[in-house]
Amino acid sequence: MTAPLLEVRNLRHAYGSHVALSGVSLTVHEGEIFGLLGPNGAGKTTLLTLVSGLFPPSSGAVMLQGETLTPTNAGMKRKIGVAPQELAIYPELTSRENLRFFGEIYGLRGAELDARIEELLRFMGLEDPVGRQLARTLSGGQQRRLNLGLAILHRPRLLLLDEPTAGVDPQTRNHLFEGIRRINAEGTTIVYTSHYMEEVQTLCRRVGIIDHGKLIACDEVSKLLTLLPSVIRIRIDGPAEETQRAAVAIEGVVGCKMEQERMKIECHSVPPTLSRWMAICQERHWTILSLETTEPNLERVFLHLTGRALRD
Ligand SMILES: Nc1ncnc2c1ncn2[C@@H]1O[C@H](COP(=O)(O)OP(=O)(O)OP(=O)(O)O)[C@@H](O)[C@H]1O
Ligand SMILES: [Mg+2]
Repeated sequence: MTAPLLEVRNLRHAYGSHVALSGVSLTVHEGEIFGLLGPNGAGKTTLLTLVSGLFPPSSGAVMLQGETLTPTNAGMKRKIGVAPQELAIYPELTSRENLRFFGEIYGLRGAELDARIEELLRFMGLEDPVGRQLARTLSGGQQRRLNLGLAILHRPRLLLLDEPTAGVDPQTRNHLFEGIRRINAEGTTIVYTSHYMEEVQTLCRRVGIIDHGKLIACDEVSKLLTLLPSVIRIRIDGPAEETQRAAVAIEGVVGCKMEQERMKIECHSVPPTLSRWMAICQERHWTILSLETTEPNLERVFLHLTGRALRD
């Protein structure tokens, strides 16, 4: 069996006496967009920085295709691209000059570098005249796009994105998403860090949830969502006891209780439960007076696992 592209083994990191990561283990497979979700200060940037090989962990190991990553192994580090949370662009250089500067660091030269720069400016929507502007004069969204372009200059196998949508408007966010999906479709494996559960839920099939330096869950998004039931809150003009009895008899219903005048039905899935419920109401001549449904999401999973909201 071939080794996974990235394996993090029992990683621990402390800044002085402050433990920022403790005992984190996870695996990222070739070709996936893996989400790393956690609130401010959870340890996401620390984990990505260790995976990028910038400094060694206090203990534990980062393995790339089965080989241990060390900060001095330039060949292995070249397989990784990083778009850091704090923008890594030179404000006094233009977008084109930034790409050239980092391209040369990666050893690209001549026609190959020229072509790659133009390709990336097009890819990031930073064609001229924007490409000739000083980076510090670009909008926040354009700077984020340039930050991403710099991370993929050398066509890395593994791309680490640390809050790539920080401070951008919804349109730029969608543009970035499109770019990230294309980079992935062209064969780059991605670790995507965010404290926006909607982003992770949209882009990633598998996700790790990190809190206070610990990985508290790691699985497919669809599996994590099954930790919680869907909820239907409904007010009906039928007799309370009879309506409750009818509700719990529906296949897939796991709980039912009255909340003042409304009945709270917990179920595996809203659509089949609701269509069965509609049929029952029709048979018994009950009228639905109000209806509200709540599907589980990663925000609620986080609340369920930690007792706290993902964002303060
Ligand atoms: N260089 C440092 N020196 C001391 N403490 C640090 C350092 N970098 C991070 N920390 C602390 O380590 C913890 C984890 O920080 P980290 O930046 O990894 O979290 P994060 O999940 O990326 O947060 P955010 O969502 O705010 O970016 C925090 O408590 C932070 O204050
Ligand atoms: Mg961070």
